[in-house]
Amino acid sequence: MFGPSAVQVVAGLLAVCSQGSVALAQSQSGSSPSSNAVVADGSSFALNGDNVSYRFHANVTAGDLITDHYGAPVSGALPSPVDPAVNGWVGLPGRVRREFPAQGRGDFRIPAVRIRQSAGYTVSDFQYQSHDVIKGKNLNALPGLPATFGDADDATTLVVHLYDNYSSVAADLSYSVFPKYDAIVRSVNVTNKGEGNITIDDLASFSVDFNYEDLDLISLRGDWARETNRQRSRINYGVQGFGSNTGYSSHLHNPFFAITHPSTTESQGEAWGFNLIYTGSFSAEVEKGSQGLTRALLGFNPDKLSWSLGPGETLTSPEAVSVYSKDGIGGMSRKFHRLYRNHLMKSKFATSNRPSLLNSWEGVYFDFNQSSMYTLAEQSAALGISLFVMDDGWFGDEYPRLSDNAGLGDWVPNPDRFPNGLNPLIEAATNLTVNETDGNTDKKLRFGIWVEPEMVNPNSTLYHEHPDWVLHAGPYPRTLRRNQLVLNLALTEVQDFIIDFMTELLNSADISYIKWDNNRGQHETPSPSNDHAYMLGLYRVYETLSSRFPDVLWEGCASGGGRFDAGILHYFPQIWTSDNTDGLDRITIQFGNSLAYPPSAMGAHISAVPNHQTGRTVPLEFRAHVAMMGGSFGLELDPADLQGDETIHGLIDLAERVNPIVLNGDLYRLRLPEDTRWPAALFVSEDKGQAVLFVFQTQPYVNHLTPWVQLQGLDEGASYRLDGGEEVYTGATLMNLGLQFSFETDYGSRVVFLERE
Ligand code: DGJ
Repeated sequence: MFGPSAVQVVAGLLAVCSQGSVALAQSQSGSSPSSNAVVADGSSFALNGDNVSYRFHANVTAGDLITDHYGAPVSGALPSPVDPAVNGWVGLPGRVRREFPAQGRGDFRIPAVRIRQSAGYTVSDFQYQSHDVIKGKNLNALPGLPATFGDADDATTLVVHLYDNYSSVAADLSYSVFPKYDAIVRSVNVTNKGEGNITIDDLASFSVDFNYEDLDLISLRGDWARETNRQRSRINYGVQGFGSNTGYSSHLHNPFFAITHPSTTESQGEAWGFNLIYTGSFSAEVEKGSQGLTRALLGFNPDKLSWSLGPGETLTSPEAVSVYSKDGIGGMSRKFHRLYRNHLMKSKFATSNRPSLLNSWEGVYFDFNQSSMYTLAEQSAALGISLFVMDDGWFGDEYPRLSDNAGLGDWVPNPDRFPNGLNPLIEAATNLTVNETDGNTDKKLRFGIWVEPEMVNPNSTLYHEHPDWVLHAGPYPRTLRRNQLVLNLALTEVQDFIIDFMTELLNSADISYIKWDNNRGQHETPSPSNDHAYMLGLYRVYETLSSRFPDVLWEGCASGGGRFDAGILHYFPQIWTSDNTDGLDRITIQFGNSLAYPPSAMGAHISAVPNHQTGRTVPLEFRAHVAMMGGSFGLELDPADLQGDETIHGLIDLAERVNPIVLNGDLYRLRLPEDTRWPAALFVSEDKGQAVLFVFQTQPYVNHLTPWVQLQGLDEGASYRLDGGEEVYTGATLMNLGLQFSFETDYGSRVVFLERE
């Protein structure tokens, strides 16, 4: 199929590919993790974690960056890949592993970047120019975007500068390695160095090609009230992908995926995790090309990007995180969790104990006034709850928020419900003493409040004054969803409006917690690029408010878990996991969510039965045990619905006791709800001194033994006392034999404390 000249060109390129796999002066032992985290030898690069190597080099003729290895540590020279056959239909660039595949030049797989030049061409030819190695990872390395951070001991950054001589476009690939976490994060800057305008139509934050082998794809799918259900499938030839075009990360698919071998399990085998630090529309794609290589891409959604760059302007992609583990899917998750707790979540509450809370939503919905709210606060304090949260329905003067039909945008207290503003309620509530079981009478109830700042109801003063502030596409109808429209946060005046009213609200009273909700997707937008402009505006608002009010505990929410993503976690340490509060469904949702996100970030509440979403009735103890696996434990009911069940006090105490281990410990998903009637999880403190085991029976197996549950992650040689009682077993026994439990009823559950002797 090729003429002789084409064969010669291909053969020439292959020779250069082989030469590229040079030995690198790297050593994995005997030096500090940061000293050899990035080794650059000419134009060959090694990123080294404690248990991972990521190697690539520049192909000096083609200029492409060629991936050599991403996996368990390698050292020294690497064997060259066997030359692919040259008489095929796909050009050489389509037969090799590429770091930053651009459009054109014989690679027919999905590109990581697609640029429309001013002359209309969509071909790019990025060639290696130079690189820089920088110690650490600056907190503000990505202007206006959330990102990981770390000092010189935690991270090293390699920036590889590429240039397309034909179009005068520069691309900087920025890799940071966090050696302790076997994590590599990447973002891309594209800069227009020419004189005409260019348009970026597609840009992946991370793109990497895997060698030819069988691989699986694991992702999280769902919808409202059934978020983060795990799914796994074989990667076959062709493209598989998912994403969001909703303007937010969404319930439908989470911006996370893992690639594993078919044999990889929760605790064994290789797993590569990918997660985008971004809250907007995204795209995740894997493609097994005709030659068997598998490409993985994560970044902007091309349907929602058409970003124009004038001369001298730059587009920065969001950052994507990749972690590698050879301890299975569980090992991958623990690396994400530790990295995020220490190097993504910047709130001072990221690793500190969270107050147990009572949220008013499912208890009273919109049906309350000042005095009934105070009664709820009083009941909360009496139960031993530390934080009382008034949810939706407190605002709106001309258009009072008595249902979801009015009021959004008018952030003034409803004068009928709060004739003298919020202060009388907040002052009275924060004067209440929390009924602590240890008799401590010093602890006062704290007060939190719900807002949905990005939204407006047409029935509002704000909409009448600023109809042009909402997202709309010229003459097209402005589609309502939950009777509301979305304010366009790409507009500075909208960002300032939100910053100002939130500042006023927080300065007006003793409010120590905010739940920031967002209850619809984006339909009609003025342009595809508005999605990213919106996100930059949103992040400016988050950055300003979270730095201005660092003592406020911020919780993200989007009709439950519609915005459970790493972008939000940079600013807010916790997110409401799902509007589905059913104890049984929550096991699946929370286990799925924990594939990428630390349990410390999950809001999880006990609600009333029959459950408002599923109609199911499960025992209080089961609901409480499931909820305490989330870092932010709470109640979301009218205390009257507890029908005087006194066990609630003990359960709140237990939740507070397990909270430090859930927040800062390592999670082992011992048995998955999709595989068994007896799902189980273990949280182990980082020093392995304490652990807490959760075991559930979701369905009885009548007249049959229950399986033993083998623990993981303990100190093998140490002895552990169970629940402060007489039983003491070694870590080896607990991990290799395990423990057995029996349950008498449907929805049985057990929580066991383990303390190292
Ligand atoms: C959706 C949230 O997920 C709920 O928890 C609640 O806050 C409602 N919005 C209020 O409208």
